[in-house]
Amino acid sequence: MASSLQHYFLLSTLLLFITSPTSAQQSFRPKALVVPVAKDASTLQYTTRVAQRTPLVPISLVLDLGGQFLWVDCEKNYVSSTYRPARCRSSQCSLAGASGCGDCFSAPKPGCNNNTCGVIPDNTVTHTATGGELAQDVVSVQSTTGSNPSRNVTVSNFLFACAPTSLLRGLAAGVAGMAGLGRTKITLPSQFASAFSFDRKFAICLSSSATANGVAFFGDGPYSLLPGIDASQSLTYTPLFINPVSTASAFSQGDASSEYFIGVKAVKVNGKAVALNATLLSINRSSGVGGTKISTVNPYTVLEASIFKAVTEAFVTESAARNISRVAAVGNFEVCFSTENVFSTRLGPSVPEIDLVLQNESTYWRIFGANSMVYVSDDVLCLGFVNGGENARTSIVIGGHQLEDNLVQFDLAISRVGFSSTLLGRQTTCSNFNFTSVA
Ligand SMILES: *[C@@H]1O[C@H](CO)[C@@H](O)[C@H](O)[C@H]1NC(C)=O
Ligand SMILES: *[C@@H]1O[C@H](CO)[C@@H](O)[C@H](O)[C@H]1NC(C)=O
Ligand SMILES: *[C@@H]1O[C@H](CO)[C@@H](O)[C@H](O)[C@H]1NC(C)=O
Ligand SMILES: *[C@@H]1O[C@H](CO)[C@@H](O)[C@H](O)[C@H]1NC(C)=O
Ligand SMILES: *[C@@H]1O[C@H](CO)[C@@H](O)[C@H](O)[C@H]1NC(C)=O
Ligand SMILES: *[C@@H]1O[C@H](CO)[C@@H](O)[C@H](O)[C@H]1NC(C)=O
Ligand SMILES: *[C@@H]1O[C@H](CO)[C@@H](O)[C@H](O)[C@H]1NC(C)=O
Repeated sequence: MASSLQHYFLLSTLLLFITSPTSAQQSFRPKALVVPVAKDASTLQYTTRVAQRTPLVPISLVLDLGGQFLWVDCEKNYVSSTYRPARCRSSQCSLAGASGCGDCFSAPKPGCNNNTCGVIPDNTVTHTATGGELAQDVVSVQSTTGSNPSRNVTVSNFLFACAPTSLLRGLAAGVAGMAGLGRTKITLPSQFASAFSFDRKFAICLSSSATANGVAFFGDGPYSLLPGIDASQSLTYTPLFINPVSTASAFSQGDASSEYFIGVKAVKVNGKAVALNATLLSINRSSGVGGTKISTVNPYTVLEASIFKAVTEAFVTESAARNISRVAAVGNFEVCFSTENVFSTRLGPSVPEIDLVLQNESTYWRIFGANSMVYVSDDVLCLGFVNGGENARTSIVIGGHQLEDNLVQFDLAISRVGFSSTLLGRQTTCSNFNFTSVA
């Protein structure tokens, strides 16, 4: 009797031990997810990592804030027992807005199947696009408590596009594709939010260092950075705008842009408004030209020629008033200064502040020295803004250097963006997320 009870007890604990990890995995619903975001020193691209396929393989991807979806090189090293092409006229094709139907005239393999719908993966760095099969496979990422990564979670039917290896040209070494976070139904934030039923919100926090990871979150805050600062608090909010004309390299007529536009109404330097052509600041709704977008594939902010001229002239004048003297241009940076008379502060070199004024005078994105200036040598620092020429499609493209050490949150449900301005003022940085897992 005693021995059979003992036997029963042993058996039940054994069963519990065996079954609990899987059942817990199934019933566990994460509130948010976290991925690391590295800065590639040679291309200045930001890269992230997820695990994909069966068995899972870690893949590195260029982070593309305005990108339409995840695209991956399926031509090289794609091995997975769970790869499924999207069949023509399936719900997956309609979610992706892919109405076409295609065949592939070679041996079937990932990226080459008959009776599948296709989309147009876009290398937004080189502005190259190709056709690619829409497909599904397993994607795994870490959930988060808000302060640390927690257990890994899996989406078994994550939609993405297959691309040929050649589309990787121009991207950071070692990446397998691009992770699009733009505003479509199959972008990463949308698919994660619907898989785990959390808010359609996500946030990026780009590190200024090529040796310390920044972070991106899917879902709502807290977004805690050491020493215990929740960067989701005290954000300033501004509405997101939809550009009705696609800004992708290739698109169908009638497609809206998947990129994130905000309404910059004025630019101030040292608190003084710069005279700008207001037409350029708004989006022309028939051509899609003009306006302001946020981009992680542009390393520096790009300004349309007349805006560039006006803003840099004001900056040079205000700098001269601080005895900061201009020196010759360096590379793409037209406006450079001697570091003499430039003091270092917690917010970077002390130079005139640049404000992007939004929906009203009291709502502005203030850019301090750490985000405006780039040291090109010990003696020279340059304004990290570049001239986009007279025919710029988008008048202001807020680029990576200006986003670093700022938390930027996108709320897709109510179409607004929250920004923290520099976290340096709050004694933390985007490389201060504690990546020690507490799973
Ligand atoms: C697609 O169908 C065509 C015609 O039946 C066939 O020749 C081809 O091998 C098929 N391709 C794949 C990838 O199955
Ligand atoms: C969870 O995911 C991370 C990052 O992809 C990986 O390093 C780790 O090995 C995974 N852990 C488990 C238990 O699979
Ligand atoms: C302002 O920009 C628009 C659009 O490029 C242009 O048509 C117009 O001539 C510009 N106005 C001035 C005063 O330069
Ligand atoms: C908007 O674009 C259309 C088409 O290119 C052009 O005809 C129109 O003049 C533009 N509107 C403004 C205000 O520049
Ligand atoms: C700039 O330099 C001039 C002459 O050396 C000096 O008089 C002035 O006080 C300086 N201004 C500032 C803001 O440091
Ligand atoms: C400016 O906009 C913010 C956010 O939309 C709003 O809370 C605030 O009341 C506005 N301020 C003024 C002076 O209109
Ligand atoms: C990071 O998180 C781990 C796990 O909670 C903790 O043990 C460690 O002390 C944290 N690191 C810092 C620097 O706070």
